Amino acid sequence: MLNFEEDLSGSALRVSPSSFVPSAPAAVEAEAPADAKNRRINAADKRIINGQTDVNQLVPFKYKWAWEKYLAGCANHWMPQEINMQRDIELWKSPNGLTEDERRVIKRNLGFFVTADSLAANNIVLGTYRQITAPECRQYLLRQAFEEAIHTHAYQYIVESLGLDESEVFNAYHEVSSIRAKDEFLVPFIDTLTNPEFRTGTPENDQKLLKSLIVFACLMEGLFFYVGFVQILALGRQNKMTGAAEQYQYILRDESMHCNFGIDMINQIKLENPHLWTAEFREELKSLFKQAVELEYRYAEDTMPRGILGLNSGMFKEYLRFIANRRAQQIGLDVMFQGAENPFPWMSEMIDLKKERNFFETRVIEYQTGGALSWD
Ligand SMILES: [Fe+2]
Ligand SMILES: [Fe+2]
Repeated sequence: MLNFEEDLSGSALRVSPSSFVPSAPAAVEAEAPADAKNRRINAADKRIINGQTDVNQLVPFKYKWAWEKYLAGCANHWMPQEINMQRDIELWKSPNGLTEDERRVIKRNLGFFVTADSLAANNIVLGTYRQITAPECRQYLLRQAFEEAIHTHAYQYIVESLGLDESEVFNAYHEVSSIRAKDEFLVPFIDTLTNPEFRTGTPENDQKLLKSLIVFACLMEGLFFYVGFVQILALGRQNKMTGAAEQYQYILRDESMHCNFGIDMINQIKLENPHLWTAEFREELKSLFKQAVELEYRYAEDTMPRGILGLNSGMFKEYLRFIANRRAQQIGLDVMFQGAENPFPWMSEMIDLKKERNFFETRVIEYQTGGALSWD
């Protein structure tokens, strides 16, 4: 039996030392005080930000979509070392296996991604998580943070397998200007949330939080990753670097879920706080979207100055405009680039990857969590 006592210094409950003494028979067990029962949560009172309900109580659910995404993330669990990298290693080491342009794409690509997912993880753990008051969303963010760790692991595993210069790849975000420019764009928004003094609760700060969430979901996970994903998946489609391509395929699936979760959370915050969505705020967002498209396009040009793999930077310009339109619509902004079309329709097939189907067929283990274990 737990014996709770009111702490006179505040409303928090503390557990008395007698909690650890074997309990008396049930017959003398006291009823919980009436005011304790009043603490029971009503799902309708939950809020994504500035909520007053206990964040330790996952149920009753209000945001079922967040819980469902958490379950879907767990069902898609994978680990980098399950993927065989032998063919990639042979191709990379063979003097004529890849062209110089292809090698440049791979190195610049990893140069962005090896640090991007650490930025993402730190942003969640040290920033976003503290500000979100819905336990269902926190549950998903915990899963997402672990997935970001798996992604960093995957990129490190590729760098190690190919025997690349680690110091060159891990420092690219300082040393390669097209990568540094993308990270410099993100840093102020990450700094807002990770500042220990930052608190929501005023319209100004709530807008800052919302802006950081939008930059993160729509522009970092939803746009800055996509040139890189297309490049490595295009190599895989030509039967080159199929191990790396398979890792990217699983990462793309995870990231597409992160992006959708972020968008659901953004739209729910808008619904609960309509006063934040002012015309001025929307204008500011549009300008951020345009800057992000420009930065990602510069990165595309830098990673592939000449067309390779049937891709060229003009196609990326169209693709980025197409994606930016889609992200804008998903959060209720007007389309910014009229008539932009998707030059890579095969990417949707990659995103919608079903668990049982493995495009590159390099993976031997079919990972399934939960019910697949047998104890007989
Ligand atoms: Fe990630
Ligand atoms: Fe992510």
